[in-house]
Amino acid sequence: MSTVTIGVIGAGLIGRKHLRTIANHPDFNLVGIADTNTDLASSQYPGERIFADYTHMLDQTKPDAVIIASPNQVHAEIGIACARRGINCLIEKPVTDTLEAAAALIQEVSRSGIKTLVGHHRRHHEQVKTVQTLLRDGQMGALVGVSAIWAAHKPAPYFDAAPWRAEPGGGPILINLIHEIDFLRFVAGEIVAISAVASNRQRRLPVEDTAGALLEFAGGAIGTFFLSDSAVSPWTTEQGIGEAVEFPFSGESSYRFIGSHGSLEFPALTSWAQAGRTQDWNQPIQAQRLFAKTVDPYAAQLDHFRDVVRGSVPSLQPVEDGARTLIATLAVTEAAILGKRIDLAERYEALATNAVSSPVHL
Ligand SMILES: NC(=O)c1ccc[n+]([C@@H]2O[C@H](COP(=O)([O-])OP(=O)(O)OC[C@H]3O[C@@H](n4cnc5c(N)ncnc54)[C@H](O)[C@@H]3O)[C@@H](O)[C@H]2O)c1
Repeated sequence: MSTVTIGVIGAGLIGRKHLRTIANHPDFNLVGIADTNTDLASSQYPGERIFADYTHMLDQTKPDAVIIASPNQVHAEIGIACARRGINCLIEKPVTDTLEAAAALIQEVSRSGIKTLVGHHRRHHEQVKTVQTLLRDGQMGALVGVSAIWAAHKPAPYFDAAPWRAEPGGGPILINLIHEIDFLRFVAGEIVAISAVASNRQRRLPVEDTAGALLEFAGGAIGTFFLSDSAVSPWTTEQGIGEAVEFPFSGESSYRFIGSHGSLEFPALTSWAQAGRTQDWNQPIQAQRLFAKTVDPYAAQLDHFRDVVRGSVPSLQPVEDGARTLIATLAVTEAAILGKRIDLAERYEALATNAVSSPVHL
């Protein structure tokens, strides 16, 4: 089968990771890199075709696909330009910066028929697929609830390097929790309502450093999430799964999925049940370690994108689904600011009918 020609737009932190993954992938042929900072891109990628204007790259190289790894604010504009040219897109998360932009992108994508994949790379972990299968197959009975933590301490240089991280929108809800919300939607079903509190007590910055959220799932399960980027713990997916070399490995589980007939810790995949699937708190309870191999999720994501572009599998996450994750994540901030429970059903519907508006106060 012929290789997939691909361009990368935005050669920053994650763009460079995608470029390394493409270089090691036999089924992709890199045809160009677009970055407004051409001096840096040219020095880092000698021998590649570098473009300051991404539209010139699209028109001159006519790739089968692109990866959009630019800042959030231009995801929609670039995605729409690709759709109008019939170029398939892997769009980094969040799919767009606002819900209006997401709606405009969705409309253009559906008009054009291009294939899209949002870069919530967690979906490509084998451990994640295992949890999804166990929950879907009802092996723990009905899902009653989930208890989850994401807590790590970001060092001072993290904020010095990018001052926007200290401003509203740059905090752990939109940067980190969005991945966890997407994971939960993927394995446990749609989130239909959210309540939350947020605090800046640790750093005293204008953005939250800590939050707690109450999640209601379509199937009736209830979830609690504790989030902080100013607390030391081994409980993040990054540390628990060994996702990237820049984070220490803990192997600890940060999620507990709790069902009517048993429970499951993630990512260690320890499952708990009573002998004979009884439901009696006086009966012995036993643990079993399940196994799923650890893979590079960015390489697995690229394998999947190849299959999507070739038309052999449906996308695990088209832009519409990425927008739902954005809706649920924005609602955590909104619920905390307004101090009220946010029902998401109408927002999902508005997205489908292109009648969205981004929440106020964000
Ligand atoms: N999936 C993940 O694990 C993950 C991790 C980090 C970032 N991200 C997402 O990836 C995107 C990029 O984040 P980053 O941390 O790499 O940012 P970054 O600032 O390191 O890189 C962005 C790059 O885009 C370039 N750029 C800006 N405007 C452009 C334009 N109009 N056309 C072409 N290039 C342009 C910049 O010069 C820069 O090189 C964001 O949407 C972010 O949320 C995803």
